[in-house]
Amino acid sequence: MEYISHGEAETEALGCRLANRLSPGAVVAYRGDLGMGKTAFTRGLARGLGFGGRVTSPTFTIVNEYEGTGLPLFHFDMYRLEDAGDLFDIGWEDYLDRGGVCAVEWSERVESALPENTVTVTIARCPQEDGWRSIIIEGVGPL
Ligand SMILES: Nc1ncnc2c1ncn2[C@@H]1O[C@H](COP(=O)(O)OP(=O)(O)OP(=O)(O)O)[C@@H](O)[C@H]1O
Ligand SMILES: [Mg+2]
Repeated sequence: MEYISHGEAETEALGCRLANRLSPGAVVAYRGDLGMGKTAFTRGLARGLGFGGRVTSPTFTIVNEYEGTGLPLFHFDMYRLEDAGDLFDIGWEDYLDRGGVCAVEWSERVESALPENTVTVTIARCPQEDGWRSIIIEGVGPL
């Protein structure tokens, strides 16, 4: 299903709506270029999972963990990984088993390691306006 976001707040709101539909062990895999709003969407996921604090990009740490009132959120940025072979070092399998939500930026890098029931979120710029985004969400029903 495709959604059009007209600004960062709308992208966050969509993430928030998706959060309510996820069950333990869910993986949300982003596709989309630099600055498309993957971290913004994840901020919404965190809010939807009952986390009220700040959500920042895990570019240098690879993974940030957020514990709210709902499922825990593990926010990955695979930008600096080569391929799925690097996942062992960061304990990917353990994260999958922890019953939380794994949100994965630059999931293209680790495609082969994503579970079959992964929810994919593809974000692209709309040609009409700089601040508009096409957000295609697959693997879950309409939000
Ligand atoms: N509709 C929109 N949705 C989300 N972000 C938007 C939108 N329009 C403009 N922006 C801007 O685009 C930027 C998105 O930044 P964000 O860090 O979320 O991107 P990202 O996809 O995580 O990038 P990176 O690959 O570098 O981690 C922000 O500066 C935000 O204000
Ligand atoms: Mg980001």
